[in-house]
Amino acid sequence: MKTILVTGGAGYIGSAMVHELIAEKYRVVVLDDLSMGHRRLVPKQAEFFKGDLKNITDCRQIFKKYKITAVMHFAASALVGESVAKPLLYYQNNTAACVNLLNAMQEARVHQFIFSSTCATYGEPKTIPMPESHPQDPTNPYGRSKLMIEWMLRDLAKISNFSYIALRYFNAAGAHSSGLTGEIHEPEAHLIPNILKAVRNPKRKLVIFGGDFDTPDGTCMRDYVHIQDITHAHFLALKALGRGVKNEVFNLGLGRGISNLEILKMAEKVTGKKIGYKIGARRPGDPSRLVADNSKAKKILGWTPKRGLEEIIRSAWEWELSL
Ligand SMILES: NC(=O)c1ccc[n+]([C@@H]2O[C@H](COP(=O)([O-])OP(=O)(O)OC[C@H]3O[C@@H](n4cnc5c(N)ncnc54)[C@H](O)[C@@H]3O)[C@@H](O)[C@H]2O)c1
Repeated sequence: MKTILVTGGAGYIGSAMVHELIAEKYRVVVLDDLSMGHRRLVPKQAEFFKGDLKNITDCRQIFKKYKITAVMHFAASALVGESVAKPLLYYQNNTAACVNLLNAMQEARVHQFIFSSTCATYGEPKTIPMPESHPQDPTNPYGRSKLMIEWMLRDLAKISNFSYIALRYFNAAGAHSSGLTGEIHEPEAHLIPNILKAVRNPKRKLVIFGGDFDTPDGTCMRDYVHIQDITHAHFLALKALGRGVKNEVFNLGLGRGISNLEILKMAEKVTGKKIGYKIGARRPGDPSRLVADNSKAKKILGWTPKRGLEEIIRSAWEWELSL
């Protein structure tokens, strides 16, 4: 039986991955320091190890205790605004912690790695949609801390039989269809849960950042991807590594730009409620559009996102109501 180490498996996307791996009969070991994650999101069938990737001893212990086949690395600090205020925290918790993980993998001779990268590694778009070959010039420390990991992976693969696939997610959204896991972030920086929380509690102020972008309705456009389309891509990546596809990077997104107001309208349709909002100032460095060219993932991994905006918001709403 294959044993997969899922770092950050108590977090939003990592926990969905753990549920899916368990359903597919993998043995799963979760390493999470619970700094942002929640123990209750990890299914009982997974082995849970409370540990911090910043601590090399924690990393080594996992590989001593379990015979790991492959690592799916979700653990990270992932708040853009926080990364601007505390850059060293991001270089330490994302980049340096990943050095520990990779060192422990090398020592234990574990060679397969799937990395949760991000569209934040691109920076300002030069073309829309953005292919994987788009220049990478991130506009914040979060994006840079992740881009450095991509560089490390590339360098390590050159000098060893280490092989990796990096998946650059655009905006992850939605909840798991089991109802057992979904988004619980404190603070919550993502638009969809914030809209849905405002529906439940109209006293919460909903602010859309910027109404004067160069887009049809003036609000900025992002590309979204349901977390179960992300977990599916991880299975395909694991299979691809098994058949020798390696050291590749893939975008994960629907391949279409969705404006903030379009999200809001869909949330009104799904919840059946009118949603009040204010247009606030733009956030510094927010590009008007980020859209994935997902054709490479389609072609090489055989990945097609199956869940569109309505299903994303419906699943997120069901999750929100269950909290
Ligand atoms: N959510 C998105 O829209 C999005 C988009 C692109 C990329 N990503 C990437 O996907 C991954 C998962 O994102 P998420 O939204 O599930 O985040 P999350 O914050 O919900 O999950 C991250 C998990 O990692 C754990 N963690 C953090 N630092 C750790 C450390 N030093 N040691 C051990 N565990 C640690 C946290 O406790 C948490 O459970 C991240 O790498 C993120 O950069 C997310």
